[in-house]
Amino acid sequence: MGVRERVLVRVGLAGRWVRALAWATLVANSVLVVTGGAVRLTASGLGCPTWPRCTEGSYTPHGELDLHAAIEFGNRMLTFVLVAIAIATFVSAWGTRRRDLRGMATVLALGIPAQAVIGGITVLTDLNPWVVSLHLLCSLAIIGLSVRFLLSVDAPLPAPRSGPLAVLAWLTFATAWVVLYVGTVVTGSGPHAGDLDAKRNGLDPLQWSQLHADVVFLLVGLTVGLLLAVQAAGRPDARRVVVVLLAIELGQGAIGFVQYFTDLPEVLVGFHMLGAALVSASVTWVLLRVRRPAVDATRPVAAGATQTGAAHTSEA
Ligand code: HEM
Repeated sequence: MGVRERVLVRVGLAGRWVRALAWATLVANSVLVVTGGAVRLTASGLGCPTWPRCTEGSYTPHGELDLHAAIEFGNRMLTFVLVAIAIATFVSAWGTRRRDLRGMATVLALGIPAQAVIGGITVLTDLNPWVVSLHLLCSLAIIGLSVRFLLSVDAPLPAPRSGPLAVLAWLTFATAWVVLYVGTVVTGSGPHAGDLDAKRNGLDPLQWSQLHADVVFLLVGLTVGLLLAVQAAGRPDARRVVVVLLAIELGQGAIGFVQYFTDLPEVLVGFHMLGAALVSASVTWVLLRVRRPAVDATRPVAAGATQTGAAHTSEA
């Protein structure tokens, strides 16, 4: 086999792996949001009271091992799974010889040490609520980037388009991030601190929950507007994705209201965190799909042809 053939085989193999690894990156980071939530909701945030060691004398919680230490230590261990996935993703992305995939895989890989450090600062500041908020928001941003990576696996994303649809998609995306941010502020003012002695941010949970819900109403309104707009623009490829986002927002909103009126049961709050990960993933998907239509996605439908088929082959 000549050099050229060997390179083509290598690129083909890397390409095959990169899709599976892109999914693994997305799923593992979403699982991390939920396990991080489990740490907070079981008040295990200081189960390992220091960082990077678990206790002053040991990296592992032996001896005085209790449930809180096991939960917090288990969450730390998940970092190693993420590291393994990130390294494999990085290696296979380099193997594809695509600049866009290499760039994204690099940022995704760097996200892990960054999150490990923020997680460490979280412990060392005795679960300062603003640091806890930053820790979650970084995970949600990594999830958004994982979606972009996944959508780029087959081919580089088409060039972005400008115009009213793009503006509406950006507005929806930005509003979703305001909702996510304000949600973490509500948490910082609420009872689930991660440890019985951890400080709260001192803000009024009632007022901030109200603001959180108000921005959610704006988000749902913008999403419905976007749905009507893509429908009117003849973009069935984008419509399907916006419908998914709307369904996730409504489900997440329902969980939000129920948990609010039932004094924040831990299990519901855990589902609300999973919902936040899904909102971050789906709103990124919407932004990319609306702004970067596949070449054929905006053409008038020819008799007997489907637009979505064309959109799928060239982008997703
Ligand atoms: C698209 C809809 C929504 C999204 C994306 C969202 C997102 C979030 C996020 C990211 C958090 C922070 C989680 C954490 O820091 O662990 C949060 C917390 C919270 N959300 Fe939402 N939320 C939504 C809808 C709602 C609604 C409609 C309500 C109703 C009042 C609500 C009530 C709450 C409450 C009470 C908390 C604090 C939970 C705690 O103290 O642990 N959410 N939300």
